[in-house]
Amino acid sequence: MINRCLFPVAGYGTRFLPATKSMPKEMLPIVNKPLVQYGVEEALDAGLDQIGFVTGRGKRAIADHFDVNYELEHQIKGTGKEKYLSCIRGVMDRGVFSFTRQSEMKGLGDAILTGQRLMGTEPFGVILSDDLCFGDGSGVMAQMVKLYEEFQCSIIAIQEIDGDDIEKFGVIAGDKVRDGVYKVTDMVEKPAKEDAPSNLAIIGRYILTPDIFDVLGWTPPGKNGEVQLTDALKVLSKTQGVIAYKFKGLRFDCGSIDGFVEATNYAYKNVYKPI
Ligand code: G1P
Repeated sequence: MINRCLFPVAGYGTRFLPATKSMPKEMLPIVNKPLVQYGVEEALDAGLDQIGFVTGRGKRAIADHFDVNYELEHQIKGTGKEKYLSCIRGVMDRGVFSFTRQSEMKGLGDAILTGQRLMGTEPFGVILSDDLCFGDGSGVMAQMVKLYEEFQCSIIAIQEIDGDDIEKFGVIAGDKVRDGVYKVTDMVEKPAKEDAPSNLAIIGRYILTPDIFDVLGWTPPGKNGEVQLTDALKVLSKTQGVIAYKFKGLRFDCGSIDGFVEATNYAYKNVYKPI
């Protein structure tokens, strides 16, 4: 059973400065909900209710968001405005939230390793909340949990990316198992376009077996001098197998201004429900 999910949220969000000078990028709102809440709801909808965050300096607002604000609740009690808090209250009631800090920014692989104590010894999900996903039918993490039940190995979400943008992603090569499902044979973190093994890019949704921690422990810094999760997963793909899954749904790159605005417009039209 998978019931834990890790959220690496230590990144600076420099592309959104000055908005992110004193506020975590994960708290930027897509319409009326912070970005990270969409990810947490996706995890909860997949049955992952033990939520762990790997945070850093300046990220306290995330912990406050998933905690009770007594003063606010007291102020709006009986005013007819309580309904505006019911959505986040519901999220808080469904999950247990834990936090640990990454003291140095040494890459996604290092962030995952920092979360080891929070994730324990069972397989767990990872959500990069910058990648905002709206699943088709069920959420992307729920789709991946189903696939894990079938394959019992690490699962990564992928999407076809054509053109120069492929250089911004981890990229896989794989043998097709069936429509949308591949057995990974190679992985490269942010290759030059001409070196990319395919157009199948890794998206920020993973299910990892706990063996990843051993591998991350000895994975040397890779691309950009950072410990890369992609490099550690490549090792797992050779030893126990990794499945890549073309998820059903939409993904917005909310780490970029353009993607963020597209996500906002999409969510306002199709997801947001006035309270
Ligand atoms: C990370 C991963 C990369 C993946 C991407 C998805 O990169 O290292 O493999 O393709 O997330 O968003 P980042 O965008 O954090 O640099």
